[in-house]
Amino acid sequence: MCGIVGYVGEKNAESILLNGLRKLEYRGYDSAGVAIINKKGEMNLAKSKGRLANLEDKLKQNPLEGSVGIGHTRWATHGEPSDLNCHPHTNQKKTISVVHNGIIENYLELKEYLISKGYEFYSETDTEVIPNLIDYYYKGNLLEAVMEATSKIEGSYALGITSVDEPGKVVAVRKDSPLIVGIGKGEYFIASDVPAILNHTRDVVYLNDKEFVEMTKEEISFYSKEGKKLEKDIHHVTWNADAAEKGGFEHFMIKEIHEQPRAIRDTMASRIIPGKPISIDNIALTKEQIKNIEKIYIVACGTAYHAGIIGKYVIEKMARIPVEVDIASEFRYRDPIFSDKTLLIVMSQSGETADTLAALREAKAKGVRVVAITNVVGSSVSREADDVLYTWAGPEIAVASTKAYTTQLITMYILGLFFAQNKNTMTSAEIEDIKNSMLTLPEKAEEILKQKEVLQKFAENTYMHKDMFFLGRGIDYAVAMEGALKVKEISYIHSEAYAGGELKHGTIALIEKGTIVIALATQNDLYEKMLSNVREVTTRGAKVLGLTVEGNNSIEKTVDSALYVPQVNSVLLPVITVISLQLLAYYIAAAKGCDIDKPRNLAKSVTVE
Ligand code: G6P
Repeated sequence: MCGIVGYVGEKNAESILLNGLRKLEYRGYDSAGVAIINKKGEMNLAKSKGRLANLEDKLKQNPLEGSVGIGHTRWATHGEPSDLNCHPHTNQKKTISVVHNGIIENYLELKEYLISKGYEFYSETDTEVIPNLIDYYYKGNLLEAVMEATSKIEGSYALGITSVDEPGKVVAVRKDSPLIVGIGKGEYFIASDVPAILNHTRDVVYLNDKEFVEMTKEEISFYSKEGKKLEKDIHHVTWNADAAEKGGFEHFMIKEIHEQPRAIRDTMASRIIPGKPISIDNIALTKEQIKNIEKIYIVACGTAYHAGIIGKYVIEKMARIPVEVDIASEFRYRDPIFSDKTLLIVMSQSGETADTLAALREAKAKGVRVVAITNVVGSSVSREADDVLYTWAGPEIAVASTKAYTTQLITMYILGLFFAQNKNTMTSAEIEDIKNSMLTLPEKAEEILKQKEVLQKFAENTYMHKDMFFLGRGIDYAVAMEGALKVKEISYIHSEAYAGGELKHGTIALIEKGTIVIALATQNDLYEKMLSNVREVTTRGAKVLGLTVEGNNSIEKTVDSALYVPQVNSVLLPVITVISLQLLAYYIAAAKGCDIDKPRNLAKSVTVE
């Protein structure tokens, strides 16, 4: 997830682009850059690693003149944050510059092809193939070259493009990444999101997938991918800047919950492709090394720890390797048993959590190989681990983690299948089956997001309670833990998760008339057993919200309200189920009037012990 902006008009492009990027920093902030074409038709670039302020300082010393340009604020996916990997990227001749938000899945293939045609590459990014591909197809018409190049690209993209051969122009296109066009008087804008242009215009055109725009200060034209001219409606934006930054949502948390279909899709991109073996860039573990692993530790904190518990179920089931999951602050002081057949997986959204980092260092000092799973390219854990598997959730701003968790689950499936593929613990048909099921997750996640009303109603009837219990068996128990954490983090209600079968060994003493219980019964092999556990609490007066898969309508005989999640391979259900629980926690906290994005006493990234 990155932010892009573009401008053509008569004003100073530099300040317009910088203002726009400032409003888009929430989409990424590890490096930023601009490309501006001056009156002589020369293109000048300025780039800087780190926050936007670094680029601003650079430009203060060496301002760029011109009134046509593009800008970018980056959240790295391919290649660490550095001046070299920073956008805009150019073709080898430096005549075309491109800003890109998204992931090009077939960039390695395209790069190889272009290299065979004599092109050279300088960065580690997927983006650099785009200006070179446009250059390859350029025959005097930038728009046509962009159309040709994008027809060869697979993946997601919002692109802003300028060229010294057509200096008064910006061309843009999108597919699966957002892009809007701002309509001014004698000036036009492109941006990833409305706040970037609100200071200049409130009239916007929303581009659909594979629609192109060509703009000069005199005119703007929209085209379909077949090159047909399109008439687009202009919308007048009435949001204020704050609401616009949250995409019209009230809080970042609910916005990020809604970003999950995209985040899940991105995290699978280029790794899960039907008919192709699972490939993971940045993981150098060989088949021999994988076959050699006898024990895996997954170490993490908070929400990432909960994703690790699902990881245990997944890796043990798929790859038949014993997995132990540990809280990082415990792991580092308990003198764990390591051997040369041990693998440590550390999982951290930020990649900076002090305890997780210490666990990584402890294991490395003892010669253990470490795989890091993190959302932040270039973070400490990514730099210090032997192998890295990135979640491509984009920046997570709300303290309560949502899209980071679901993408961590996706990486657990990817790793489980990758190990199984190398150890032959699953047949290719079984692997293919799960991969195909995984590819349906984004649309299933979209379906869950429509459950708002049932959850809101349940939240309004429960937010005043002091305690809440989450029950589940097997993989559902792990999801229940994350559900309980979400509720306590943002609504301050005491909530605990219990394994359904363990309830009668103590906790059932806490159940009384009106106690709120959320029971997860998504796993068909444990469904009847779970319903028996639910009966144990309803008999004692608990009010139960039961969550199961579509078709299990018999649950309604046992619970007070039922919620259904769409059918998907049972091992993948946590990805879907947890979204209901995130929404539930959100609506409970909203009903209570809590400060949802910044809950009391909590920090997004805990860099102290
Ligand atoms: C803090 C955050 C949690 C997060 C945990 C681990 O406690 O409030 O939301 O799960 O740290 O963070 P990490 O960045 O390592 O995943």
